[in-house]
Amino acid sequence: MKILFVSSEGLPYSKTGGLADVVEALPKALHGMGHEVAILLPRYHGNKITSTLVSSVTVALGDRLRFPAICEGPSVEGVRYFFVDDPAFFDRAQLYGDKTGDYPDNAERFAEFSRAAIEFMKRVWLPDVVHCHDWQSALVPVLLRTQHAADPVVRSLPVVFTIHNLGYQGVFPQEAMRKIGLPDNLFTMDALEFYGKVNFLKGGLIYADYLTTVSRRYAKEIQTPEFGSGLEGVIRNRAERLVGILNGVDYGVWSPEADKLIAQNYSAHNLDGKKACKKDLLAAFKLPEENLERPLIGIVSRFADQKGFDLIAEIAGDLMKENLAIVALGTGQPEYEKLFKAVAEKYSARVGVKIGYDNTLAHKIEAGADMFLMPSRYEPCGLNQIYSLRYGTVPVVRATGGLDDTIQNFGSKTQQGTGFKFEEYDGEALLACVRAALKAYRDPKAWHAVQANGMAKDFSWKTSAAAYVTLYEAAKRARIPRVAGSSK
Ligand code: ADP
Ligand code: GLC
Repeated sequence: MKILFVSSEGLPYSKTGGLADVVEALPKALHGMGHEVAILLPRYHGNKITSTLVSSVTVALGDRLRFPAICEGPSVEGVRYFFVDDPAFFDRAQLYGDKTGDYPDNAERFAEFSRAAIEFMKRVWLPDVVHCHDWQSALVPVLLRTQHAADPVVRSLPVVFTIHNLGYQGVFPQEAMRKIGLPDNLFTMDALEFYGKVNFLKGGLIYADYLTTVSRRYAKEIQTPEFGSGLEGVIRNRAERLVGILNGVDYGVWSPEADKLIAQNYSAHNLDGKKACKKDLLAAFKLPEENLERPLIGIVSRFADQKGFDLIAEIAGDLMKENLAIVALGTGQPEYEKLFKAVAEKYSARVGVKIGYDNTLAHKIEAGADMFLMPSRYEPCGLNQIYSLRYGTVPVVRATGGLDDTIQNFGSKTQQGTGFKFEEYDGEALLACVRAALKAYRDPKAWHAVQANGMAKDFSWKTSAAAYVTLYEAAKRARIPRVAGSSK
């Protein structure tokens, strides 16, 4: 099968979060199963290309025309990378916005990207199935099923759409419809209209053939008002076409045996190297070596409301009464950056914080920390807790979405379980959970068991990639060929 991924980010070219990891690893796994896979991305700042395939495609955005180029970059392990190249739109310092907020022309940027994606399919690489991700490529199924519904080349293309995060929907004022060239008849409740605004993600949910999200629990949660962000009704209407498929992990990149970015490699059979990694990590954060004796909690995250760090604000004082150390790496909303900086200042001998994005340091934290904390308010899948399992870094997580699906609570009697979970979104519950983890840490036998249980888990892409293939095939069947004569 020829499978095209259309995504606003993907490694090794661009990344703000887990979507980029998935868009790199899933295509590799599909290629390994014998499929032909390509990825179409916007060409951001610094993305190197090898050739320009089409020097300009004409994209109409309302009454204005834009002329992005279609380029190709080096293939990675058999997966081809193509780009929509329009420097004025994409060659910027960040992907979606800066400190002052989202870029004001995001509707136009990603409408152009989606329209160019269809031109790309017609002219360069026609797939058997299209796999779109999040709001930035949600207009692809909308356009295929509406403005391109009579186009004989692409009208029957099946589309699978993955929701990586319902918290980001691409909602714009009504006038965006005209600016991006969508007709008024799509501004209705059963199409893109959402409380008087245009909602890109809603379009994807309505017009794609199949919907997926990245864990089974999140697939259920998003059908409820608590997690549905206003789209729960739309999702419930399509529940028969919604599947939760857990993200996998690329162990070639994220495992203590293979990791090239950590101080010393190690494995489940011999964890000696983990100590060297802890030492190296403390040095990276300029924390004193005496912390080698303390349990070290790691955090790597976007600092967004989703991630639950307001709970840490609630209990920071009590948390730091425990004999522990913390290293945190993240960037995002200023209030959380401030919070972490303040805690690091107050407890400078035991807390290290780095504000920023740093892949090497993320790997060092996975390897060098004893525990990994993710107190998320909601978490569609979450990758860091899965990485942590493999590194023998015990996850302490809130029981939501993919965190709940991937971590089993450790029981000291049974010695079963891979981490520590709490249910209530509440600082006290988080504190109790950390204390349970600390108690296990003080018992070497229990700690060894929880580490070994986690390291033995296999979240490689094999099973999940096969589930996607099944769905691609279902999506193909769902596109009933048009009756003869309807093409005119
Ligand atoms: P989300 O996509 O919601 O941010 P995930 O857990 O799915 O959460 O994925 C986050 C990915 O981004 C992981 O690969 C993680 O290591 C990486 N990451 C997040 N913040 C940073 C950061 N500040 N520096 C380096 N890597 C980061
Ligand atoms: C999103 C989610 C995260 C998920 C990632 C990849 O950004 O917040 O939970 O792991 O997408 O699917």
